[in-house]
Formats: sequence, C-alpha cells, structure tokens
Amino acid sequence: MAAFLPISLLIFSACGFFVFVCGQLTDFTLPVKPTVVSGVDVATESLFSAGTSNASEVPTTEFTTSYRKSTAETTTERPTGKEGQKPVRKVLKMEKEDDEGPLKLAKRSTRSLTVAKKLKNVLKKPKVIPKKPKVTKTPKPEIKKVKHHQSAATKTASQCPPLGLESLRVKDAQLRASSYKRRGLGPHRGRLNIQSGIDDGDIYDGAWCARYKDKNQWLEVDAQKLTRFTGAILQGRNSIWSWDMVQTYKVQFSNDTLLWKPCMNGSKEAIFEGNQDTETPVLSLFDRPAVARYIRINPQTWYQNGTEGDICLRAEVLGCTLPDPSNVYAWQTEPTESRDKLDFKHHNYKEMRKLMKSVHDECPNITRIYSIGKSYKDLKLYVMEISDNPGKHELGEPEFRYVAGMHGNEVLGRELLLNLMQYMCQEYKRGNQRIVHLVKETRIHLLPSMNPDGYEMAFKKGSELAGWALGRYSYEGIDMNHNFADLNSVMWTAIELETDQSKLINHYFPIPEQYTSEEAFVAPETRAVISWMQNIPFALGANLHGGELVVTYPYDMTRDWAPREHTPTPDESFFRWLAAAYASTNQVMSNPDRRPCHNKDFLRYNNIINGADWHNVPGSMNDFSYLHTNCFEVTVELSCDKFPHASELPIEWENNRESLLVYMEQIHRGIKGVIRDKDTGVGIADAIIKVEDIDHHIRSVADGDFWRLLNPGEYRLTVSAEGYFPSSRTCYVMYDHFPTICDFNLTKTPRRKAKDILAKGGKLPKDLQLLLRQQRMRKLRVTTKAINQRRAAAKRAKRV
Ligand SMILES: *[C@@H]1O[C@H](CO)[C@@H](O)[C@H](O)[C@H]1NC(C)=O
Ligand SMILES: *[C@@H]1O[C@H](CO)[C@@H](O)[C@H](O)[C@H]1NC(C)=O
Ligand SMILES: *[C@@H]1O[C@H](CO)[C@@H](O)[C@H](O)[C@H]1NC(C)=O
Ligand SMILES: *[C@@H]1O[C@H](CO)[C@@H](O)[C@H](O)[C@H]1NC(C)=O
Ligand SMILES: *[C@@H]1O[C@H](CO)[C@@H](O)[C@H](O)[C@H]1NC(C)=O
Ligand SMILES: *[C@@H]1O[C@H](CO)[C@@H](O)[C@H](O)[C@H]1NC(C)=O
Ligand SMILES: [Zn+2]
Repeated sequence: MAAFLPISLLIFSACGFFVFVCGQLTDFTLPVKPTVVSGVDVATESLFSAGTSNASEVPTTEFTTSYRKSTAETTTERPTGKEGQKPVRKVLKMEKEDDEGPLKLAKRSTRSLTVAKKLKNVLKKPKVIPKKPKVTKTPKPEIKKVKHHQSAATKTASQCPPLGLESLRVKDAQLRASSYKRRGLGPHRGRLNIQSGIDDGDIYDGAWCARYKDKNQWLEVDAQKLTRFTGAILQGRNSIWSWDMVQTYKVQFSNDTLLWKPCMNGSKEAIFEGNQDTETPVLSLFDRPAVARYIRINPQTWYQNGTEGDICLRAEVLGCTLPDPSNVYAWQTEPTESRDKLDFKHHNYKEMRKLMKSVHDECPNITRIYSIGKSYKDLKLYVMEISDNPGKHELGEPEFRYVAGMHGNEVLGRELLLNLMQYMCQEYKRGNQRIVHLVKETRIHLLPSMNPDGYEMAFKKGSELAGWALGRYSYEGIDMNHNFADLNSVMWTAIELETDQSKLINHYFPIPEQYTSEEAFVAPETRAVISWMQNIPFALGANLHGGELVVTYPYDMTRDWAPREHTPTPDESFFRWLAAAYASTNQVMSNPDRRPCHNKDFLRYNNIINGADWHNVPGSMNDFSYLHTNCFEVTVELSCDKFPHASELPIEWENNRESLLVYMEQIHRGIKGVIRDKDTGVGIADAIIKVEDIDHHIRSVADGDFWRLLNPGEYRLTVSAEGYFPSSRTCYVMYDHFPTICDFNLTKTPRRKAKDILAKGGKLPKDLQLLLRQQRMRKLRVTTKAINQRRAAAKRAKRV
C-alpha cells in the first residue's frame, strides 16, 4: 500500500492551486443551523465547544464506585483517564482510589434505605442545573481569506451528520490506510471511540496506527457516494499502556483515489489541530465544504517521547450524501427511516418531560406519569406507566419495568423508551391487538432517565464530542451500576459459614447494615430506584445501556472477585431464554454479518452472556433485583455507539421495536396464581413459592398473587406461609404466550386458628382445644427426649 504514496503525493502537490478554503471552527461567528433537522439541538452548541472541554467538568476514574471496594474495572465501558494525563493501569489499583474518591465529594448523610423518604443531602445544590462555565471562544485574528470564496451561503451550508465510522454504518471495507502496524491496529480500528481490550497486542486495539513514522501516512474513508464533507473529528489511541495521538493533520479529497486535492487555507494547505490527550474528541470544521467521494486524514505531527510514539488515531468524518445518478452503490443503501411517526431526536430533560406529557394527553386512559424521586441536582426521575388501569395494581396482573440512562451518556435507551411510549399510545388507539393485549394484561413502567444529571452533561457536548465517559456517572461521580447493595457477598459468605443448610435463605436478602450506614456512598438516584423496587411488585425488567451489542443476565458479580467467571443464578435457563428473546429479535445483534463493536466478539455467544462472564460488576442492579425482590432483570447493551447521532434514531427504533415488545411479553411466561386462605378466601401476602430443584423462591404480593417465570416443563410447587400448612401442586408450563394458572388454598394451622379466634375475643371449639393439647404433648415429649439424651451424653463424657 505504501507504494501508492509517491504517485498520489506528486499529483496532489501539482494540484495545489485548488482553492479549497478550509479553516478552523473559530472562523464561524454565526451560530450555524444544521441541515440535518433532527440534529439541530445537539449540533449547534456542542460542535462549537470542540476541544475546549474543561478537565474539571469531566468525572474521572477516581470516583468510580461506591461503598464497596471494587477490584478491577475490566469493562469496555471503562472510563477515560484524566484529561491530559497518562491513564494509569486501573486493574488492581482501584481500592485506593475508591477509598479516596467518594469521600472528597460530599458529606454523607444518614439515609435509611428502607424508608422511601430521602433526607436532603447536606451539599444540596440550587434547584436548576447551574450553567457550566460557558466556553467562549475568543475569535482569533483571522486568516486573511480569499474573500470572494466566502459568502453567507457557504457559511450557513452548515453541518452534516457523521458518516458513521463510530456507528459502524461505514463498513471495514470502506476504510484504508497508507500502512498499519499490525492487524489489531488496522484502518478498521480507526473509528471514533473504539475501545481496546485491557491488553494491547491482540486483534482489538484502540486505534489505527501507521507502520511508518513520516508525514505521508493517511487514513482513507470511502463514502461510496458523492459526499459533501464538512468536518472531521479526531481522537488519540485508546490504550492503558500506550500514549499515542496525532497533534496536527492535513486533509485531502478525491473522486477516484488518484487525483487528490488538499484542503486549503488561503494559499496554503490547511493544517488542523489534532489531539492534546488520547480521549477527548477534537472537531475541525472545514470552512468550505468539499465535494468528493474519498477523504484522507493525513497526520503531520504526533506525540513523541524520545523514540516512543506512533501515528495513531481514531476518527469520525462529517458528510452529507449528495444525490448521484451514477451511484453504483444505490442498491446497498440502507434504510434510514422508520414507518412509525415518532419524535426522533435527542430529548433533554425539559423536552423529555414535554414529550411524556404529550403522550399522556393523547392517551390519558392508559397512561400515568409519576416521579420516583430526584437526582442529586433535583431533576425528577419520571416514570411513564402504561396500563389499562393506571395507578393501580390489579390482582394477577404482572408489573414490568424498563430502566434507561443509568449511565447518563448511554442515551439510546432513553430515546427508545420515549419512542416506545408514543408507539404504544398510538397503536393502542388504532386498535393494534398485540398492544391492546399487552396494555390490558400488564402494568408497564418506563423510566427513561435514571441519571438525568449525567445525561445533561453528555447532551451539552453532543453525540460526537462527549467522548466515552463524560456523563456516565451521577453528578457526585457515582457509577450507579456498582452502587446497589452487594447482596451476592452476603449470600456467598452465608453459604460458606453456615453449616446448617436449612437455615440458608435464597431470596429476599435483606440490605446489609453497612449499606444503610453513614459510610455508605449511595446516590439519591439509586436510593429512589431501590424504594421503587420495594414498593412495586415487579416480576420482570431490563435496564438499557449502550456501548456494546449484547444482552447480559445475572449474576453480574463473580464469586471470588475474579475479573470474569461464569456465575449462574439458579434460574440460569430462564435468564438465557430472556436474554435470547431480546437478542434474537434485535435486527443489529442478530445480523450474522455484523462486526464486533470493540474488543469482544459477542456474536460467538449468540449475543447473550452471563454478566460476570463478561466482567465482574459488584453492586449491579440486576443482581440486587434478583436477590432482594421477585424481579428478574437483564442488561441490554443497545449499540456500539453510546450516543448515536440523532440521524440514527429512526433506524435504531426499527432495530429494537420488536425486541422491546417481545421482551415485555415474556412476563406472561411460566406460572401465575393467587394464594388464598381456604376458609376465608382472602389472599395471603408474603407466602413463599418454592419450585422443586430451583434454589430461588419468590413471594406472593399484597393480595396473594404471584408470578413464577419459568421455561416450559413440569414443576412441583410448594407454597408456605406463616400460620398455614404448606401445600404442594404439580403445574405444567406449556409453550404458550400465556401463563399457567396455579392457585393455592392454604389451611390455617390449629395454633394460628386459635390465635385468630382468641384475638377476636371468641372461645375455642372443643376439637381445636384437643388438637392443640395433643400438639403440645408431642412437642414436650420430643424436648424431654432430647434433654435426656444430652444428659446421658454428658455423663458418659464425665466418666471418660
Ligand atoms: C477551565 O477552567 C479554568 C479554571 O476554572 C478557567 O480558568 C478556564 O478559563 C477554563 N477554560 C475553559 C475553556 O472553559
Ligand atoms: C468530485 O466530483 C464532483 C462532481 O463531479 C465535483 O464537483 C468535485 O469537485 C470533485 N471533487 C474532487 C476532489 O475532485
Ligand atoms: C490558516 O492560516 C492561518 C494563518 O496562517 C493560521 O493561523 C490558521 O491556524 C490556519 N488554519 C488552518 C486550519 O490551517
Ligand atoms: C517518556 O519516556 C520515559 C522513558 O521511557 C518515561 O519514563 C516517561 O514516563 C515517558 N513519558 C510519558 C509522558 O509517556
Ligand atoms: C377514555 O375512556 C373513556 C371511557 O371509556 C372514553 O369515552 C374516551 O374516549 C377514552 N379516551 C381516550 C383518549 O381514549
Ligand atoms: C380454592 O377454593 C375455592 C373456593 O372454595 C375453589 O373454588 C377453588 O377451586 C380452590 N382452588 C384450589 C386450587 O383448590
Ligand atoms: Zn452502561
């Protein structure tokens, strides 16, 4: 490939007279209205703050977690290093950072978790999000530009969306390079925000790196169509071990890869500013858009430390496809539209609230908006409830939840839930039987933004410039998916220490005291979600993330703090079913030709994996949900790109619509029933439902109703409740889309009967008195026997 170089260089120096006036973003004084309608909100503000991010705003690894010492964060979602500073190897180093990080941030307040009411944090901020220090770019004394090439028209000819290096819309075959160091650093790795694995040197490294270190290296993007290029975004190499980035670069355009025209700045070639650190994306807008099919990014200077320092970069290119009659690739054109009429754009907090309200106004009979609490910065955590009887739990009707935006910068889930509520409202009104059935038989709760503070941070930077970690954490710097009480350790410690197996519990684990104590660093958002989980009898849920394409199921935490290890729950087979229900109906995940997002090929696992088998996450929402409540929950990683451009939203809805519906429908799989008092017919709350051979019980809720999600098969159920004789039944689960009804009538124990009668001031009937006496005698005999045996043993021991 390097052999092409001299020729192209020759041609392109001969073409130096081309006047492609290109400048920096400072050339713009007017706010530019982007042509991409859906991109409006993100583009204007965000694009102009390129490269000026202030390090103090960026939450860093120091405050990753929580009350619990965490080991390695071996995740692909791993946060970036502090700006302008070499990221240190995080693995096995986290303990110290965890100890120091959170303490500095806020004074802890005592907040009892089981109480829904939350005490205000001491350092509470004013109501509205204070404006971040506004990044005002002082326009530099500007380049003497060739005036007649500048016009208002060209200036307002504005921003184009990303071609899709990050979103993978641009395929590997569309990327070429002058040279590359090795396969794992090939041109197909030169995509914005691509993540390397923990170690360098495999096939999944974090950038394109040139093999040679000279000014003739380039990364080329074939847009396949005539395109109006308006800008480029550069980022350094993602690696824990290496520190590589391009500091300045040139850009060239071509229609045939033979004749290259340089991007000009007056009479000179334009030289763009690249990166100062490896993670912050830096945008350069071409002052005058160039029309071509190919674009090259051509590094000129790069970070060097002695002989160290390679030419490495990750990039995105902004461009609008032009109508081209001679386009030979027309047949390849992927759809970008959705047939549904939904509000496809990124909604910030206010817009989200407005949209939710409009859905409620349109479907008041089946929706209700409520808030489960507030974020650190006092933004409400709104939930949209969709049900035929909003606001009420109906006997036998299971409750479902979707939670999105736990990591504020993983924004697709939020938009999908907003789409989903609009869609369900519209389709219900149209009489779509599938939706009508779902609404009538299920109480659905949608929480689009669990971390609104983090979202606002990422939203301000916009989809391309937010980087990989900005907005992930809560305002206090808490990673909420590490912030739930670690009940796994409680369980595993009990299993190790307890010799009497019958004393072990396997469900409804209480929250440990240290979690509710003053030392516990628990986000107000996490607390709000925990009380929500305690107050509503959810049977199934999923939390929506981004940055990968895979569905993960619990446990998320490994048993012995291993970085990764398959750690199944007793409900492994049903969890695999659940995960597969989403993954197999998702149009991107299930595409066998898709390439892996970052550094793990989940296609090999059919796009589902046990969470702990991917990476160890203590204190995850899924594990907490399973161990503390009746609710089964999985994590859905929706897209390679955490913050897809607004133009990608319609197609992402198409990709996920079926999966979102199918997954909700799984709540009607298995067994459901009501547990009642045989005599009175009154429902029994808190009865324990045990399925033979599955070491995880669930409990009945207030009116005695319960849901036991199960795969098809024959099950022996035993139900027990305090004051009642246990009762067993065999129930069969079929391959149907509705649950098997399995009710129980429990008989009170004589003791309980007597207690109830006496409590009412009644007299015990003869037969009951007799029964109770017999029971007491039996107990006495057993106790006496035991005492005698002990005495005899003691005597024997003395004699020895
Ligand atoms: C970043 O913060 C520092 C200190 O608060 C301030 O002096 C500087 O102007 C800020 N820079 C930008 C680009 O906002
Ligand atoms: C590519 O072709 C288009 C249409 O023919 C033309 O407008 C444009 O200037 C060409 N670009 C380059 C870099 O030659
Ligand atoms: C364009 O030229 C001016 C004046 O030489 C320089 O200050 C500016 O940085 C250049 N911009 C680019 C993108 O090359
Ligand atoms: C530069 O190289 C020296 C010697 O190899 C090393 O000690 C130092 O940490 C490096 N600096 C950076 C910023 O990578
Ligand atoms: C709500 O329900 C009432 C009573 O069934 C009905 O008259 C009304 O049209 C419904 N409203 C909407 C918006 O569906
Ligand atoms: C429970 O009792 C009710 C009322 O006597 C009866 O209709 C129902 O069939 C019983 N259910 C079971 C599972 O025994
Ligand atoms: Zn996430």
